Amino acid sequence: MVTQSSLLTPHYFPPGPAGHPLLGVMRDFQRDPLGYLSQLVGQYGDLVRYRFLPGWYGYIVSHPDHVKYVLQDNNRNYSKQVHPMKFLQLLVGEGLLTSEGEFWRQQRRLAQPAFHRQRLAALGEMMTGTTQAMLDRWQTVEGRPLDVDREMMRLTLRVAARALFDVDVSDAAARVGRAFTEASEYYAAHYVNPLSRTLVHLPTRPHRRFKAAVRTLDQVVQGIIQERRRSGEDRGDLLSMLLLARDADTGQGMSDRQVRDEVMTLLLAGHETTSNALTWTWYLLDRHPEAAEKLRAELAAVLGGRAPAMDDLPHLPTTRLVLEETLRLYPPAWGLMRLSEAADQIGGYDLPARTYVVISPYLTHRHPAFWPDPERFDPERFTPEQIAGRPRYAYIPFGGGPRQCIGNTFAMVEAQLVLATVAQLYRLRLVPGR
Ligand code: HEM
Repeated sequence: MVTQSSLLTPHYFPPGPAGHPLLGVMRDFQRDPLGYLSQLVGQYGDLVRYRFLPGWYGYIVSHPDHVKYVLQDNNRNYSKQVHPMKFLQLLVGEGLLTSEGEFWRQQRRLAQPAFHRQRLAALGEMMTGTTQAMLDRWQTVEGRPLDVDREMMRLTLRVAARALFDVDVSDAAARVGRAFTEASEYYAAHYVNPLSRTLVHLPTRPHRRFKAAVRTLDQVVQGIIQERRRSGEDRGDLLSMLLLARDADTGQGMSDRQVRDEVMTLLLAGHETTSNALTWTWYLLDRHPEAAEKLRAELAAVLGGRAPAMDDLPHLPTTRLVLEETLRLYPPAWGLMRLSEAADQIGGYDLPARTYVVISPYLTHRHPAFWPDPERFDPERFTPEQIAGRPRYAYIPFGGGPRQCIGNTFAMVEAQLVLATVAQLYRLRLVPGR
């Protein structure tokens, strides 16, 4: 499409819908964000330009080359100053996920060592132990249906809290889990609305409940921080790293508020995503008995009934393939957003400054040029030979570039250990009709 925005400079914009004259396509996004994204990409292709509201445009970027360009090659031009992120700040403040620039860089440098593989090695036992405790509890409910989604949420929340802050949230887990669920549901229902940050102050029930959930989480997190400040102990975990960090020039440490934002960010980012990945894995294994059988055979041959350890993971390739394929079909972070700071070009098209850019792992993972028969569950897509035949950015469950997920190895190790521990003993079946 060619449009003439000034008499001298023709602009080449990608195709896409203008929507309603006054409301653009905002309401279509609000109704069903992922469904609408899928529809637009199916209809218009690799690059779509939509009119969100009058004067407010967004691009959907699906081709791996273009994804790489935004997340990696020219990442400095693409900030996270988008309204869903500002809205998320109501919950997680200025943590790693939502901050920008030099402040983000400093926090990332500080947190990175806590996620090194060697450090994770020390956590394997805790991860399987926590899973085993969940299975012990399952013994008592045998025969009755389990809410697997809730079980996985509780499990991954406990693991994140113990790994990052050496805190056992068992007592508080149900309360914290509920508060996170409430806050997340509120977020999911409101993040498309550009006025969400203002609307939250309306004294209606959903807004009040959201604020109450944030207060609950704040109390728990402040408790964790105060307890550690009091003890002054260096336990070598992430919380100690945050509390002991000093600015090289000023010698200043982080304020309680800063530490609180990071703790909240890591608790949120570190449990819900992994939990969703596991829940979808159980669903897919139930739908695909041949894959479930192959997985069980591998676990029986390698582990023979004992609990898995970190050292076993290289010998459990099927466990990893199943998870990778689940993350392809149902990436928990299914939409990433950026804002172009300056005008740019993508794929030969013009992209003005201050344009929203949407990257959807869910859609890129179904791009027919890179994923034959994309809806089919096929863990073999992740054998080393198959991976070598695809561009890196065709598979982005953890994003890419400098803002790539800091917890990706943590998540994969945890998910593999949980899957191996549970699948050895249990076969989870979907309740008919669900
Ligand atoms: C299957 C599990 C997970 C998935 C699918 C996932 C996905 C992602 C994605 C896609 C991003 C990039 C967002 C963007 O570019 O806009 C991200 C960022 C992030 N994730 Fe994860 N994540 C997972 C697990 C974890 C875990 C276990 C932790 C921490 C323990 C974590 C902490 C973070 C943080 C702090 C960021 C922000 C990084 C930064 O901007 O520097 N995530 N995650």
